[in-house]
Amino acid sequence: MTQDLSKFIRKPEFLEKVVSAEEAASWIDDGMTLGMSGFTLFGEPKEFPMALAERGKKEKFKVNLFTGASMGPAADGSMAEAGIINLRFPYNANPILRKQINEGEAFYIDQHLSHNAEYVRQGVLPRIDYAIIEAAAITEDGDIIPTGSVGNSPIYVETAKHVIIEVNVSAPAAYEGMHDIYIPGPAGENARCDIPLCEISQRIGTKGIKVDPAKVRGIVISSQPDIPSPLFEPNEETQQIADNLLHFLHEEVRKGRLPNNLAPLQSGVGSVANAVLNGMQKSGFKDVIVASEVLQDGVFDLIDAGVVKFAAGTALSLSKKRVDTLAEDLEKYAGKVIFRPQEISNHPELIRRLGVISFNTALEIDIYGNINSTHVSGTHMMNGIGGSGDFARNARITMFVTASTAKNGAISSIVPFVTHVDHTNHDVDVIITEQGYADLRGLAPRQAAEAIIENCMHPSYKQQARDYFEEAKAKRGGHTPHLLDKAFSWHINLAEKGTMKLDD
Ligand code: COA
Repeated sequence: MTQDLSKFIRKPEFLEKVVSAEEAASWIDDGMTLGMSGFTLFGEPKEFPMALAERGKKEKFKVNLFTGASMGPAADGSMAEAGIINLRFPYNANPILRKQINEGEAFYIDQHLSHNAEYVRQGVLPRIDYAIIEAAAITEDGDIIPTGSVGNSPIYVETAKHVIIEVNVSAPAAYEGMHDIYIPGPAGENARCDIPLCEISQRIGTKGIKVDPAKVRGIVISSQPDIPSPLFEPNEETQQIADNLLHFLHEEVRKGRLPNNLAPLQSGVGSVANAVLNGMQKSGFKDVIVASEVLQDGVFDLIDAGVVKFAAGTALSLSKKRVDTLAEDLEKYAGKVIFRPQEISNHPELIRRLGVISFNTALEIDIYGNINSTHVSGTHMMNGIGGSGDFARNARITMFVTASTAKNGAISSIVPFVTHVDHTNHDVDVIITEQGYADLRGLAPRQAAEAIIENCMHPSYKQQARDYFEEAKAKRGGHTPHLLDKAFSWHINLAEKGTMKLDD
């Protein structure tokens, strides 16, 4: 077995560190903090968390689970099912864990993804006992070559007491060379002044993650492929949102405010993002640069179509179709795609420096342009803020998209007052629904409210919103007129009667 593994574990001494997943899992004690690789289902260890979850079915213990972002069934799935997660950080999209978080059975810290490494570096969070990192290979120098995500792995490896590497022998060899691992110097010191990234395609770091060999306690072998994300085929609604967003961008070009290759583009994840990326194939834009967090199918389709010339992110998020052809595809895209740590892909200073244009999906938006990305009806966590705030605050143009209604029209996604604020109106430039878009730049709040209500709201809620706004102006006034006794009346009606329509 050791002989076969030498092409993946190229540092000979490390071959002696190969252990079973069960043995590695047995090293974990109650209350420990684990820093795992993994982001949007890509690049997570699989054998180790499943072995730990199996142990958790027989023994009583809990761990803190820190990752890059959302994990797949092997980590969040099996560990949540086994009930062994005490504290989760910094992003979760797993429904079982979401339920545990909302029922108070698991704690969750939802944080801007660019800030995570800083918290870990400063020792604000519990110290990482074990970093568990999936690798495509370990080099002759002992560097870890990540797989389909970098995420927070470098900082977890740097600060952990021990490291377990899960070498995935099914990972495409072409991953090697696609990562650019750059770790900023300590905050407040000169080393911070020189993140030397002025063009997104520049290489500024190393190909692998440096690790102190003495910290590597074990190496687990896996051959499980990454889990595909759902394939988001555009439907009428997402297509219309995408058309409206592209129309806005075309107008910016026509007015001379953006060049025809736009500006480095960040797209959120999910159905609308994919519809926008699909729509860009016939948009006439050329030589576009993608400077995003997650690279999903549409980005690669755009490279194939000659629309995108370079794409940088921290992780892949691919449908089954793309996962099946990953090995050949990675060879094809070498030199056109790069993965960096999330503190770099989402770095506020770099986003501002590069002049990124950004769009992310909102859960709800209020008539003045405040955005709720995370909390259903103000209390229940959906996924988390992810990188949306990193980009929203710092982008050259910040767009938020949403369907104007949810749950078959019972919910208006545009409400008088959001029940939780993730992005304040100061950070929001353009709001886009399938009904149209509102460009809020240069508008005072009362003007913004009119633009949002008239351009973005679903017709079945427009009058209700106009009535609220008019009554608020007449009875209360102010810079952003509100009626505090009615601001959440739509949500209260939803909770009591199952709809936000007040007269139903
Ligand atoms: N109130 C209550 N529920 C709502 C809602 C609202 N205003 N708007 C949407 N929903 C529900 C939908 O009905 C759907 O429910 P279901 O899962 O039971 O079908 C669910 O929320 C997801 O909505 P969907 O329309 O499918 O959108 P999505 O998959 O694109 O997800 C977010 C939307 C906001 C949850 C998602 O984009 C997210 O987590 N964003 C925050 C992180 C982020 O922006 N990351 C990218 C940064 S790079």
